[in-house]
Amino acid sequence: MAATWTPDSWTRAEARQLPTYPDAAALAAATDQLASFPPLVFAGEARNLTADLADVAAGKAFLLQGGDCAESFAEFHPNTIRDTFRVILQMAVVLTFASKLPVVKLGRMAGQFAKPRSADLEDVGGVELPSYRGDIVNDIAFTPEGRAPDPQRMIRAYSQSAATLNLLRAFASGGYANLHQVHRWTHDFMGRSPWAAKYEDVADRIGEALEFMAACGIDAERVPQLKATSFYTSHEALLLRYEQALTRQDSLTGDWYDTSAHFLWIGDRTRFEGSAHVEYLRGIGNPIGMKCGPSLEPDALLRMLDTLNPGRVPGRMTLITRYGHDKIEAGLPKLVRAVQREGHPVVWSCDPMHGNVVKAANGYKTRPFERILAEVRGFFAVHRAEGSFAGGIHCEMTGQNVTECTGGAVDVTEQSLADRYHTHCDPRLNAGQSLELAFLLAEMLNNEMKHRRPAEAAQAA
Ligand code: PEP
Ligand code: CO
Repeated sequence: MAATWTPDSWTRAEARQLPTYPDAAALAAATDQLASFPPLVFAGEARNLTADLADVAAGKAFLLQGGDCAESFAEFHPNTIRDTFRVILQMAVVLTFASKLPVVKLGRMAGQFAKPRSADLEDVGGVELPSYRGDIVNDIAFTPEGRAPDPQRMIRAYSQSAATLNLLRAFASGGYANLHQVHRWTHDFMGRSPWAAKYEDVADRIGEALEFMAACGIDAERVPQLKATSFYTSHEALLLRYEQALTRQDSLTGDWYDTSAHFLWIGDRTRFEGSAHVEYLRGIGNPIGMKCGPSLEPDALLRMLDTLNPGRVPGRMTLITRYGHDKIEAGLPKLVRAVQREGHPVVWSCDPMHGNVVKAANGYKTRPFERILAEVRGFFAVHRAEGSFAGGIHCEMTGQNVTECTGGAVDVTEQSLADRYHTHCDPRLNAGQSLELAFLLAEMLNNEMKHRRPAEAAQAA
């Protein structure tokens, strides 16, 4: 690890998962242009998110992170942004009610374009071309022109991110996020779903709480928190040329921030020791995440935490575990124990998506809802046993009615996967499945809080 960090010190470390651009001059022109563009987020906002995540690390809030596996140029539409934002808010209301904790809302949105791949090349019928690495790099179409990395795509991804973020900010503060309205959507939606009866009780109680507040004069006119919400953005910091171009020095503190999003994470394939991605992330002031899969050993994790968060700043580090439903209970405890022993303040978040991919008989890549749920259950069980706080959930989801993950109460079958399978990368939960997950998660979180509160009360006494 270089002693001195600079926005480009990563170029002297081992970089995996980066495209090779055929035209160096075109690449330099694109990154120079990006470097002259305005930042997408402000450093102060990133610091606010660190403070919110510090509350999660302390067991006083819950983190909900969700959105596309990969955003695409083709699916760029205001309704797509609105619907995903809406489902995240609906999930947050259900979780807040169950846990009585604030929920930190973080979209995998407005910049989640670049994808790591298992192979550099893809072979179709004996023809080999570069793998698709997300719309920010190349095109999904399997042609030599489509698959050639094109630096101008970074400019387009920046513009799409800016427009998406602008709409998200408008929704979050312009009245669309009104709590009464969000509850009404959930209620209406449930009326049409097969699991309405099961969750009616929770929904009714949320409604009653809102009516009670209104009767006491607590309404959106008087209490702005009911009308607006804070919503942050995140993506995997994978395409380092893009991230570097948006890395700016904060005029207030002199610290460096990646202004492409509030929160950046490092993927399971790029978190190795000596990695260029680790080198880049260690120098930015944003709150950051790291994916933790079955291959991560406790000692390596501790060294990584010392590199990425030497000051042990609460809220700086979120560990996003993604084991698979059948591996989490055996694999996670050793990481939790090591982190507790060393006293690193981290947010533990559960990604129940990336360890649970299966291939359906008809060839579609899918994720069975029961396995997703089983991993979440395992996550809560491990943290309960270890005395740590199960602080968050990380999911790939969309507000659209896609058929990409099987199961759930709406029961997407392997046969129906073909109906509306739109993802550019991994299968996402649809709106109904996302909300169902929120209700099931709410039950677990509610139990957890009941378990924790007597212990906390005893500690305080
Ligand atoms: C992702 O979050 O889309 C991803 C690629 O995850 P992971 O790095 O955990 O495999
Ligand atoms: Co994914």
